[in-house]
Amino acid sequence: MRNKIVEHKTVMIKEVIRGLNLKDNSHFLDATLGAGGHTKAILEKYPNTKVIGIDKDEKALAIARKNLLNFKNSISLHNLDFSSIEQIAKISNFNKINGILFDLGTSQIQLNDNKRGFSFRYNAPLDMRMDEKQKNTAHEIVNKTSELELNNILREFGEEKHSKKIAKAIIRKRPINNTEDLTKLILSVYPRSKKRNRIHPATKSFQAIRIAVNSEIELLKIALTKSLQLLEKPGGRLVVISFHSLEDRVVKHFFQHESRHCICPAKLIICNCNHVAKLQIINKKIITPTDEEIDENPSARSAKIRIAETIDSRKAS
Ligand SMILES: C[S@@+](CC[C@H](N)C(=O)[O-])C[C@H]1O[C@@H](n2cnc3c(N)ncnc32)[C@H](O)[C@@H]1O
Repeated sequence: MRNKIVEHKTVMIKEVIRGLNLKDNSHFLDATLGAGGHTKAILEKYPNTKVIGIDKDEKALAIARKNLLNFKNSISLHNLDFSSIEQIAKISNFNKINGILFDLGTSQIQLNDNKRGFSFRYNAPLDMRMDEKQKNTAHEIVNKTSELELNNILREFGEEKHSKKIAKAIIRKRPINNTEDLTKLILSVYPRSKKRNRIHPATKSFQAIRIAVNSEIELLKIALTKSLQLLEKPGGRLVVISFHSLEDRVVKHFFQHESRHCICPAKLIICNCNHVAKLQIINKKIITPTDEEIDENPSARSAKIRIAETIDSRKAS
């Protein structure tokens, strides 16, 4: 089958621009450039913005480079992991950054690439790497990890209720070489009543394996902490779009932790951690797409935006 390239529909553009609260002449870092949709919209509104764009997927970066050709003098592009955000800002001479955006997860381009194994809709080798230079693939995880570890991955990263059964079946059937065989195996152990659900039974397992292959949760935690150090203080904005509860929880806890002074239980007695609040949460209630956007782009339906702004820590209470 020929590889078809599907376009990525950028989600919640207006909400992101409002959330970032940039001015013309700002310094903006797009940590998940993808096809460059958010960056393009920002540069169209604020043409004098200087941008750093990061994506660990070489193919995504090549598409973004084309889409952003008109702005090539304003952008510095980096095919790296966003956990290296500090080094990238340093080599790009970005001393103060006014806004950082994370639009997490995979793009539609990756999901619909019928050779990369991100989706159960196409039969492909078990790959799922965003960074194709990385060694660890979905094949390694499915075929080499222990039953216990597989169960943990499926339960923790996919919130899959049938993780135990699926892990057991995988161990019994190994080697599993492609997405079709993995999908059939998941279907074979899924309770019949659940097979009629709107959500395909393989959805959660594929999400879990993808998160494990790309170390998505660990890298997000690292990058959020580093972002905070890079943002202009006060007034720098951090905008995060997440697509499932696991990553949203990481962002929510990070924002909560960084918007409070010391929260050590030991504070009741004596605490020397000196943790001071560095952020102010801008939207107490998460922002979700409008019904019109979901109608136009169903893959936006689970998007959630959280926004926080740096504060002058000395003045925080
Ligand atoms: C949802 S897409 C971004 C789409 C983009 N905002 C647009 O409108 O075109 C997420 C992108 O982030 C990239 N990505 C995910 N995790 C990453 C990481 N740890 N480091 C760098 N890029 C990452 C993926 O490769 C993917 O291209």
